[in-house]
Amino acid sequence: MLALFFDLPGAMRYARADDPAVAAKNPYEGDASRAAAGRGLFNQYCAHCHGPNAFSPDPPRDLRRLKRRYGENMANVFHFTVMHGRPDKGMPNWTGRLDDDTIWTIFTFLQTVQAEP
Ligand code: HEC
Repeated sequence: MLALFFDLPGAMRYARADDPAVAAKNPYEGDASRAAAGRGLFNQYCAHCHGPNAFSPDPPRDLRRLKRRYGENMANVFHFTVMHGRPDKGMPNWTGRLDDDTIWTIFTFLQTVQAEP
């Protein structure tokens, strides 16, 4: 059943942070001009809570730790968290405010600033 969703073009919509079998995938992975655009979008939408260029002194908000924290599941957790937010923790949900294109462009930037474990 889940394998069926996996091949659909809209598969990213079904991605869940707790279900690596339905993997969210960044369509722009490794694209340097996307990463540059993503830095600008990040600073516009996210930096007032997560720090300019994703440098935050507060570990739960430090998005340079996504890879260290979630490893291969990083894209899933990122996409799920941005779509659904964490209302109890102060992370807004961006569904209807940022489209998938923008979300993955921001992620492409974040991939370039991940700190080594
Ligand atoms: C109003 C403040 C605020 C804004 C704006 C905000 N966030 Fe967050 N975000 C938070 C907080 C606080 C957390 C930490 C939640 C926790 O402690 O689990 C968080 C957590 C996250 C996480 C999960 C981090 C982890 O390691 O589990 C991701 C991914 C994330 N935010 C992405 C974004 C992106 C992308 C944007 C911009 C589109 C954004 N956030 C904008 C407050 C914000």
